[in-house]
Amino acid sequence: MRFGHFDDEAREYVVTTPHTPYPWINYLGSEQFFSLLSHQAGGYSFYRDAKMRRLTRYRYNNIPADAGGRYLYVNDGGDVWTPSWLPVKADLDHFEARHGLGYSRITGERGGLRVATTFFVPLGENAEVQRVAVTNTSDVEKTVTLFSFVEFCLWNAQDDQTNYQRNLSIGEVEVEQDGPHGSAIYHKTEYRERRDHYAVFGVNTRADGFDTDRDTFVGAYNSLGEAAVPRAGASADSVASGWYPIGSHSVRVTLAPGETRDLVYVLGYLENPQDEKWADDAHQVVNKERAHALLSRFATAEQADAAVEALQAYWTDLLSTYSVRSSDEKLDRMVNIWNQYQCMVTFNMSRSASYFETGIGRGMGFRDSNQDLLGFVHLVPERARERIVDIASTQFEDGSAYHQYQPLTKRGNNDIGSGFNDDPLWLIAGVAGYVKETGDFSILDEPVPFDNEPGSEVPLFEHLTRSFEYTVNHRGPHGLPLIGRADWNDCLNLNCFSTEPGESFQTTENQAGGHAESVFIAAQFVLYGEQYAELAERRGLSEVASQARKVVGEVREAVLEHAWDGRWFLRAYDFYGNPVGTDAKPEGKIWIEPQGFAVMAGIGVGDGPEDTDAPAIQALDAVDEMLGTPHGLVLQFPAYTTYQIELGEVSTYPPGYKENGGIFCHNNPWVIIAETVVGRGDKAFDYYKRITPAYREDISDVHKLEPYVYAQMIAGKQAPRAGEAKNSWLTGTAAWNFVAVSQYLLGVRPDYDGLVVDPQIGPDVPSFTVTRVARGATYEITVTNSGARGSRGSLVVDGTPVEGNHVPYAPAGSTVRVEVTL
Ligand code: GLC
Ligand code: GLC
Repeated sequence: MRFGHFDDEAREYVVTTPHTPYPWINYLGSEQFFSLLSHQAGGYSFYRDAKMRRLTRYRYNNIPADAGGRYLYVNDGGDVWTPSWLPVKADLDHFEARHGLGYSRITGERGGLRVATTFFVPLGENAEVQRVAVTNTSDVEKTVTLFSFVEFCLWNAQDDQTNYQRNLSIGEVEVEQDGPHGSAIYHKTEYRERRDHYAVFGVNTRADGFDTDRDTFVGAYNSLGEAAVPRAGASADSVASGWYPIGSHSVRVTLAPGETRDLVYVLGYLENPQDEKWADDAHQVVNKERAHALLSRFATAEQADAAVEALQAYWTDLLSTYSVRSSDEKLDRMVNIWNQYQCMVTFNMSRSASYFETGIGRGMGFRDSNQDLLGFVHLVPERARERIVDIASTQFEDGSAYHQYQPLTKRGNNDIGSGFNDDPLWLIAGVAGYVKETGDFSILDEPVPFDNEPGSEVPLFEHLTRSFEYTVNHRGPHGLPLIGRADWNDCLNLNCFSTEPGESFQTTENQAGGHAESVFIAAQFVLYGEQYAELAERRGLSEVASQARKVVGEVREAVLEHAWDGRWFLRAYDFYGNPVGTDAKPEGKIWIEPQGFAVMAGIGVGDGPEDTDAPAIQALDAVDEMLGTPHGLVLQFPAYTTYQIELGEVSTYPPGYKENGGIFCHNNPWVIIAETVVGRGDKAFDYYKRITPAYREDISDVHKLEPYVYAQMIAGKQAPRAGEAKNSWLTGTAAWNFVAVSQYLLGVRPDYDGLVVDPQIGPDVPSFTVTRVARGATYEITVTNSGARGSRGSLVVDGTPVEGNHVPYAPAGSTVRVEVTL
């Protein structure tokens, strides 16, 4: 069952009913100002950091769901309704929510009145603009009153939810009915003392009335759906003093049949320098110059429309870097539109703010952000460069890392802990990905501090060396890397031994004296250690490179010798040196991560798809047999049914959920890539389709979440609700699946000296064309594909057959035609 459809031409998903199984959201903004927006206008806005600079309030865990948003109430002769359906929930004659790239348009119609609002964050602005068109679709004249509504959050979202004894006395606003560009409400809580920022909510006309006090607007004991002022039909002109400041304007419109009235609402964030904070000597009135300038840029509907067009042109340009044309429209829409869009969102948000992440719990993850770069770097390489420097600046001198840092301060967050021994190696992955895309080796010389300590700067390459050395120096009895607190799998906590209810597995003291080792980090080290060696070599450090390759070889051998269970790779050795992920145990026999990553690293890869004795083929066959489901590959099997103190959080989840045998989508692309490595493109593409949302659209009632973006998890085969997704949007699945589909299935990947062209997608996609812009040149790559296992393409470049699968970079501005036949 579906709740809408794709409009590929417009690059939109069209939700055609408010009654989706869960709010289906979009993200507005891609620079500093962000909004989350559901198909029913729920969500909130913040400046840079969802915890520390929250503009508007949202209630997670609320009943009913999706409470808090920007609403426009209509009072049409006493009939009160909201075009976004929520919060009033009056039946609509027509409803449609179009989620596009950086904007959404929600249209509701009732009783001969149509209200269409386009929500977006304009490029270069710290503001959400709501461009409204109100149309009289009846054949009689109509006079209606519109009431806008936003509820301000008192900036720090954590404090806002906890510190009522203070906060309910501090709220302050200013109202400007006759402003230079219409009416505006200013939220200035704490501005009198240490803040130098305020929010504005304006409308581009002189409003008939306003409200800034929530209890007046809503009415004591009412829900938002029963708000008193819209029902009364007139604003109360309330001025907040403490309690709950809001922004609401009322605008009365009279419309002839067929007539449309446009309105533009702007919710903006402004900062004033210390010496320009005030408009008066008594330091009471906010200097509004910057707000007025902002409102002047959106004083007309034409200005707003032009900004929407600029946003669409920006995305057209971004998406032109990689696109495909094939006979599979689902593949095309994921590759060309939605997967890349989600990569932008994960790059911006890491794991901080979604409908499953509250924005106050997690900042930017060290490992997460490095991986997110892999799917983003081709879009805006300059921002990837800045991100790499930010991440590396939080690294410690010994190569280890804070697990997370705050986006506003860019400082490591001690509360979240450290000691995840996979973290350092992801930095090598991120940097190598960046240099391959851009050719910018100068980043390796960039001075970067440790733990943001001024004076500690060393060239970025030295940070990579510390990452590499950290693993070299932390190896256990089998020569495999020590796991520390956990590796990529946050929940595999082999040294925690937690017995305390509610204690965090992420920060609790580790038990001393153990030697738990990770096969995942071993595979990761083989893959990224080799990339480190290659970078060293290209810097002329051949001695460093060969030394590094020697250790990589040792770890590779250790995996084959000590981490092979007979049919698949072990997952780990625990605190006591016992194997984890072995057929010898009744539960947790086989885990996905080491199978995918070892094969990606080339460990145990024999001679093509028919080499069934090769460990790689055996391990991948075992994955298919034991982890495969119609909804994707589960993380491990059988899931743990009891708490295993020596394994940690993984065994705390009910079987089939999250890391305990859920389909943890992030690691499925590792197996997809691994299948292409052994030349089984058909299997790779099959796995791809199982988790990719466009292919799951028809079962939206089962999947529940947005059919245009990946979710972190789909419930596994042992879960009572198998196939049901959770944690949409903010997941490493976005970056990794873009890598898997663009670089391995379609097979076009940047290397240091040219593009590698090596498609492996099986017979379902018999021909396709990829257009790739790399380092300024355009490559038109046309593939004729038999899909036969093990077949590698033969290439004709600009009419000349070439050996191998490498296309050297051409001068910027040129177009290269590549024909590939498999
Ligand atoms: C979440 C975390 C990520 C971790 C994964 C597996 O996605 O953000 O860092 O690797 O879970 O535990
Ligand atoms: C990761 C895991 C999750 C775990 C969390 C701890 O996000 O996916 O299961 O609880 O890390 O922060």
